[in-house]
Formats: sequence, C-alpha cells, structure tokens
Amino acid sequence: VSWVPGTDPPPTPLPSSSSRCPTGGDSALSQEALETLAEEAGFSGSEGRSLAFTRAASVLKALPGQLSALEEGQALGSGLSLSLGQDVLEDGVSVEVERVKLSERYRTMKLFTKIFGVGVRTASRWYQEGIRTLVDLQERNTKLTRQQQAGLQHYEDLNTPVERGEAESIGRMVQEAVQRFLPGASVTLAGGFRRGKPRGHDVDLLLTHPEAGREAGLLSAVCLSPHQGLILYQHSQENSFALHEGPEPPGGRDVLDRFERCFSIFRLEVQGRPGAARGWKAVRVDLVVAPVGQFPFALLGWTGSRHFERELRRFAGHERKMVLNSHTLYDTRLNLFLPAASEEEIFQHLGLEYVPPTQRNA
Ligand code: GTP
Ligand code: MN
Ligand code: MN
Repeated sequence: VSWVPGTDPPPTPLPSSSSRCPTGGDSALSQEALETLAEEAGFSGSEGRSLAFTRAASVLKALPGQLSALEEGQALGSGLSLSLGQDVLEDGVSVEVERVKLSERYRTMKLFTKIFGVGVRTASRWYQEGIRTLVDLQERNTKLTRQQQAGLQHYEDLNTPVERGEAESIGRMVQEAVQRFLPGASVTLAGGFRRGKPRGHDVDLLLTHPEAGREAGLLSAVCLSPHQGLILYQHSQENSFALHEGPEPPGGRDVLDRFERCFSIFRLEVQGRPGAARGWKAVRVDLVVAPVGQFPFALLGWTGSRHFERELRRFAGHERKMVLNSHTLYDTRLNLFLPAASEEEIFQHLGLEYVPPTQRNA
C-alpha cells in the first residue's frame, strides 16, 4: 500500500449546492492562506477548526499543479467549507485572511507565541491584560518563567531561521561532547533537517548507544557539564517511560513521549554574520536520548513533520488497530509489541511502503 498522509479522499462528497469552489469565487486559496487560518483558529482555542485548515493546507500542497476551482474544492472536501463558515464562503477567503492578518489580536498573539516558552494560553492572558508589545512585557514586570526570560532575551536570534550549516555545526559540537563522555554513542540530526529542509526553527538531535542501558545519564553529561558558556539555557527532563505500563490507550492523552530530553539554547559561534555586531547567535536545540531498542521509533517520531506523525498514528490506530508512538508499536489485536530495528521495519509492520524522510514534509 502506498500512502501519503493528507491525501485521503474527503470522507463525504461536497454538497451539490457548493459545486463551486468552497472558498469563494476569487479562489485565492493558497497554502499560506490556510495556514494563517489554522493559526488564527489555534489562537482562539478552536483546535478542531485549526486541524481542518492544517489538513486542507497539506492536501493543497500535495495536489499536482494548477487545478480548477472545482477540482480544488472537491479535493479539499466539505469539512473545509464547514470550518470557513457561510459568510467567508460568500466574501471569499482572501478577504477573511486579510481581516485576520490585520487584527490586533492575531498580530499580538503571533508576537507573543514566538517567544520560546510562551503558548496560546499565556499569550492570550497577556493580551487580555492589555499587553501588546515586548517592551510592555518588560516594563510591566510581567512574571516570566526562566524559559520565557531566555526566550525574550534571545527573541531575535530565535526567530531567525537556523541554516543547515549551523545545524550541522551544532551536531558536531554535541557529537564531540558525547564522545568524550561515552565513546560509541551516536548523534543523529532529526526534525526538519532530516526531511531535507534547508532551514528550520531549531536543531533536533537524537542520541543513542548501541548497547542498551549505556545511554542512561548521557544527556545530563552533555547538557550540564562540559562546554561551559556554550549553553545559554537548558531544562532537562528524565526518562519516565516504562514498558511494563503498556501503551497509552489509542486516542488517549497526546503525550508525545517520555524520553530523557533537554530543551536548550546554544551559543553558536558564527563568522562574518552580515550586520551583526557580535560573532555568535543563539540557537534552539532539542536533545533527546533513546535506548537503542526504541531508537527507530524515536527517529520516526522526531523526524516529523508534525502533520505526518499525526496522520501516520491515526492510520495505525484506525486501519491497523495498532498504537504507534515514539517508543513502540503495539498491536492491540495480537496484544503484543512489534519490535523494529529500523524505520523500514516499522512501515512494514504497518503494511505500508516505506516513506523516506524527504517525503514526510506534508
Ligand atoms: P522546524 O524545527 O520548525 O524547522 O520543524 P520541525 O519539523 O523540525 O519541528 P519540531 O522541531 O517542532 O519537531 C520535530 C519533530 O519532533 C516533529 O515531528 C514533532 O512532532 C516532534 N516533536 C516535537 N516535540 C516533540 C516531543 O516533545 N515529543 C516527541 N515525540 N516528538 C516531538
Ligand atoms: Mn525542528
Ligand atoms: Mn524541535
């Protein structure tokens, strides 16, 4: 079975009354427009609507070339029409997207949620308190967590894309530190860079050791001790995964995973940075440690994209009655864990053709 997430046909046919494009006559429907609407829905706490727009955006991405408004509408399905609402359908999506982009709430929420450590809830509370700018935040002595303080302090750097070369340098830095502490351990670049993206918002690194158990404690060694001055911020979390607890129930809490991990900000030396007074840049780095037996699952989970993972897990649950997470794959009909030594084997267990990382960008 060959499968690309987000390209399943719509579950229900379009109602005949909307045999025209469900997005208004102007058909200014772009992936970017849908992403803006998804973001805005998320800011208003409408997760369902947000997901509908995100799905539609990736369907659009996967569609070949130019389509007529009708074909586009059919591919996107009626869920989108419902999410957009009748007035938007009549006025056209581009009008709605412009309205959203100009609204004070959207702009402020976007500004605040771009602070490392600030989510929709916090941003929304600040907005309600009348805070509108980063300067407001500082001047009003708003209570900030240590993470948010670091986020605010490095706001510009952390909102400047990380280039592939920078990600690779950080990978090498961590590799050196890891080798010093535990020879034989490996460091793998995951996240968007593994999917071939030229730049990203952070660097995702996955650590393991070929001998199970040896990896324990590796993270604190890397994050806490060696290269002083290179890590501007970090908070670590210990491994809390125990196999004997069994898998999370399908559709249960969306706990991403329970590996030993470290969310950090590295200080990366950069040469000849145009327009920069200093020779370094703050870069967000996620470090995750997986025991070798769970490594393929962790790699699959941390390679993303988020949307790909969500759809793959949904497929596993709905079509195969299996629970897939970043630790294991569990077959609920056979009541057993399905081990895998590679990502390829996970796809085999799921009865899917292998999808290489570069095709997981949906
Ligand atoms: P950019 O970093 O924005 O370039 O894109 P990215 O795809 O690398 O996104 P991100 O770094 O946020 O996440 C990378 C992958 O790791 C995504 O597939 C996420 O689903 C996954 N991920 C992020 N946080 C967690 C987490 O806490 N647990 C697990 N299991 N996966 C996570
Ligand atoms: Mn990333
Ligand atoms: Mn990340």
